[in-house]
Amino acid sequence: MAFYHKVGFIPLKKHITFYKEDGKSLYREELVSTKGFSGIYSTKYHINAPTKTLELCELENVKMNKWIDMPLQHIHFKTDMKQSEGDFFGSRNIFLENSHCIISTAHPNKNSDYFYKNAYAHEYIFVHHGSGIFVSDYGKINFEAGDQIIVPMGTIYQLNFSSFDKNKIFVVESDTAFEIPKHYRNEYGQLTEDAPYCERDFKLPEYFEPYDNDGRFNLLIKAGLRLFEYVMPHHPFDVVGWDGFLYPFAFNIKDFAPKVGKLHLPPPVHLLFDTKHFVLCNFCPRLFDFHPEAIPVPYFHTNVESAEVLYYVEGDFMSRKGVGEGSVTLHPLGLPHGPQPGKIEESLGAKETFEYAVMIDTFEPLGGTINVKETMDEKYYLSWLD
Ligand SMILES: [Fe+2]
Repeated sequence: MAFYHKVGFIPLKKHITFYKEDGKSLYREELVSTKGFSGIYSTKYHINAPTKTLELCELENVKMNKWIDMPLQHIHFKTDMKQSEGDFFGSRNIFLENSHCIISTAHPNKNSDYFYKNAYAHEYIFVHHGSGIFVSDYGKINFEAGDQIIVPMGTIYQLNFSSFDKNKIFVVESDTAFEIPKHYRNEYGQLTEDAPYCERDFKLPEYFEPYDNDGRFNLLIKAGLRLFEYVMPHHPFDVVGWDGFLYPFAFNIKDFAPKVGKLHLPPPVHLLFDTKHFVLCNFCPRLFDFHPEAIPVPYFHTNVESAEVLYYVEGDFMSRKGVGEGSVTLHPLGLPHGPQPGKIEESLGAKETFEYAVMIDTFEPLGGTINVKETMDEKYYLSWLD
C-alpha cells in the first residue's frame, strides 16, 4: 500500500525498549519488510516472540489437477458448477494458473478454527457473495459483497463469514505484490485527481484487543502447492500495535469511478492494481461513449502478449452472449476476440451499461485445470459464427 498507517500502541522510536504494563518485560519488535530491506515495510510489536513454534509437519499438497492438453481456444466456464465444502481456504477450487499466479473460486460454508498464511504469494480476494470480518495480525476489516481484499504475502489471517447460506469468493494468488499503478500517483505517492479512486475509498485494518493466551494454535502455511501445519504456543494475533506501509486493505468494486470517452476507451482505463506479471481491472456501470456514431462495445482485438480472463459478477454483459454471474471467459494469447454476432448492432445508440466484472490480463500464457474442462461450455469457441 502506498500510504502510512498506524494501529494500536507503538513506542516513540523504532528499536528501543517498549515495556509491557508490568514495566519489566518487553514487547517483541518484528520488522516485516519487502524486497530485502528496500521495499515497503511495517514494524509490529508482539506480546510474544513471533518465532515460537511447538511442532510442525507437512500436510498433503494442494491439488492442482492440470488439464495437460488444454487446447488453444477461447473458453467459457461456469465456476458455480464447482463447489466444495470448507472454509475460505479449504473450499478453493483452482481453475487457471501460470508460474506467477493461481486463480480459484470458493464457496465457503464454514469458518476455520486454524490460522492461515500464504508464505509465497500475495492474495487478492474478491467477495462476490457474503459478509463478515477479515481478521489478521494487522487488525480487522469488516467486509461485504464487492470488497476486494489485498492480503500481502506472509500475513496471518482468517476470513470469517457471518452466515453460510450463500458465500462466494474469487481469489488470485500472485508471486509479486498488488500495487497501485504508478500513473495513478504523483511524485509524492499521493493519488492524482484523475485516478479512478482516492485514498478515502480504502478500508484499512482496525485495532482489536490483542490476544494474550498460551495454548496450542494451529497455523496453516501455504508455500507454493505445499502445506505445512505449525503449532504455536500462543495466539498469533498478539500484536499490540504496528505502523508502516505494508498491510492488508480492501477496496469495493462499487467505489471504482470508471472513465468515459467520446469514443471507446480501451481496458487500461479500467485498471485497478498491477503486479509484475499481470494487471487487474474493474468493469463497472458507466455511460457509453458520446460520439453520435460511436460503437459502444469493444472492437475485435488480438491479445498478442496477454491472456485475458474475465470474471463476471453482476449485470448485463454488453459484448458477450451466454455468460452469466460466476462465468469466466479466457481469451488466450494470440487469438482475436470481440463482440459476438449481433452485439455491435444491438449496442448502437445505447446510453449506458450495467455490468460488474473483474479482469485479469496475464503477460504469460495461462494453463487450466480439470475444473475448467468439467465446467466449460463446449461450444463457446463457435459462438462467433453468424
Ligand atoms: Fe478483450
